[in-house]
Amino acid sequence: MQQNLRSAKWFGRKGKDGFIYRAWMKNQGIPDYEFNNKPVIGICNTWSELTPCNGHFRDLAESVKRGVLEAGGFPVEFPVMSLGETLIKPTAMLYRNLASMDVEESIRANPVDGVVLLCGCDKTTPSLVMGACSVNIPTLVVSGGPMLTGNYKGKKIGTSDLWRYAASIKEGTMQEDELVTIESAMCRSNGHCAVMGTASTMASMVESLGLTLPGNAAIPAADARRKTFAQLSGLRIVEMVKENLRLSDVLTRKAFENAIMVNAAIGGSTNFVIHLIAIARRIGVELNLKDFDALCRNIPLLANIQPSGMYFMEDLFYAGGLPAIMKELDTQLHGDCITVNGRTVKENIATAECYNRDVIATAGDPFNNATGLAVLYGNLCENGAVIKPSAANPHLMQHTGKAVVFENIEDFKARIDSDDLDVDENSILVLKNVGPKGYPGMPEVGNMTLPKKLLQLGITDMVRISDGRMSGTGFGTVVLHVSPEAAAGGNFSVVENGDLITLDVAARTLQLKVSDEVLTSRKLAWKPSPKATERGYVSLYIDHVLQAHEGADLDFLQGGSGANVTRDSH
Ligand code: FES
Repeated sequence: MQQNLRSAKWFGRKGKDGFIYRAWMKNQGIPDYEFNNKPVIGICNTWSELTPCNGHFRDLAESVKRGVLEAGGFPVEFPVMSLGETLIKPTAMLYRNLASMDVEESIRANPVDGVVLLCGCDKTTPSLVMGACSVNIPTLVVSGGPMLTGNYKGKKIGTSDLWRYAASIKEGTMQEDELVTIESAMCRSNGHCAVMGTASTMASMVESLGLTLPGNAAIPAADARRKTFAQLSGLRIVEMVKENLRLSDVLTRKAFENAIMVNAAIGGSTNFVIHLIAIARRIGVELNLKDFDALCRNIPLLANIQPSGMYFMEDLFYAGGLPAIMKELDTQLHGDCITVNGRTVKENIATAECYNRDVIATAGDPFNNATGLAVLYGNLCENGAVIKPSAANPHLMQHTGKAVVFENIEDFKARIDSDDLDVDENSILVLKNVGPKGYPGMPEVGNMTLPKKLLQLGITDMVRISDGRMSGTGFGTVVLHVSPEAAAGGNFSVVENGDLITLDVAARTLQLKVSDEVLTSRKLAWKPSPKATERGYVSLYIDHVLQAHEGADLDFLQGGSGANVTRDSH
């Protein structure tokens, strides 16, 4: 029999209170014995028809329930705010922290002993994990899995190709009606983006942190084994409750270090940095930008997956999945970290095998020696900025050019294709006011499309710098997350057209070639833009959001409040 179940404070009560807690549950056709000292497992579901990547989550939840019931638990499914990357305006990132509040309060306020988080589309993973960390009960993550690889005219395609198609439309080498045909060829099954975009990066992140059963990241959504995986996860969470294996037991500093190293090896999204820091701060682990650079330096790219390589998540699954990649890193990873299945990382990857060396390279002969992530400092980004060398062009990694400055995204859209724009292939495109406060919400616009007149000359990459983010499916020599952002009034806010900027990735520097005196006088003349709104969540967000290098969480959400409910109104 279970001892000290949290849910017993609801369902184990006598008298009027117990009556109220149980009776209204019974209107769902639930018999008495369901409440009898069983672990109650919340299934936190981000199913929504407005989050197409998570559109199969009702089915997935049923599989989790089967596992929970099989193990003697009592499953209860509940919805939380779901963030669909493709439909939400102005950007899903604006609402990541709001969704995390929903998750945190929903878990704490309800009679659940453990929780399974159903995550898929980009922000649905960090928002759920962040919220759960602030409660810290036994928690296990199940990702929805990637889509099957797209196929168009016999060629494998995925979300990263969209950026190429957009350039082709601009160049005039592709027409709009062909693009419409490609839509259904690319998104041809359930699941999230089929490349190593942010969703797959997040699915890999939770697996490498130890928050999922082994194999979570790569099983396609449409593969029957995704449902089996969900059922086994339901089975396991009940045991985790009995063992009282909580998030804080799994999410140690070493677990975060493992996740950073694995992310470098898979060429994961730059968004990983912001989300991982936010999660670390929720669970109380010290983590900063410098840790990412230090831990990534000796990790080459092993996964030949788009956007840094050529294959897709489906190929990664057939090649052995994330465990096969982690096995290649076994001398660098902390093998003693405990994971949600109760075993260590070392034990979990002991039998992992690679079945395709084109997809997963060996550590001795990596696919690309460029590291997955580099952190830059300099007078243009006093608190740091990030670049993904594995998705950038080697010839631009050390580059000096004249800044072509856009004050905001509207300015960029209005002028980027103008024949009058003073720009050449050596110029550096600078986009301001797309940071956390400035946009607000830090949209994925950092991989700015190149000027039409340069695309038509065959130019395919330029150095681009912004205080915004980039889609995990994007690529190019793109410096992101400049902190402090332009709206915060640092040096980045006063870059002007024609200023010389030097990017030196090997030296990890980003320097504006303008004297301190000039910068100081420009900053004295600088005035912040008026606040975008004075009401509602967005106003709260602008007042409290932290900078990118701090995880862009709301300041008052950092840390946790535990699982205790302090007042009892019944
Ligand atoms: Fe949902 Fe790409 S849009 S994962």
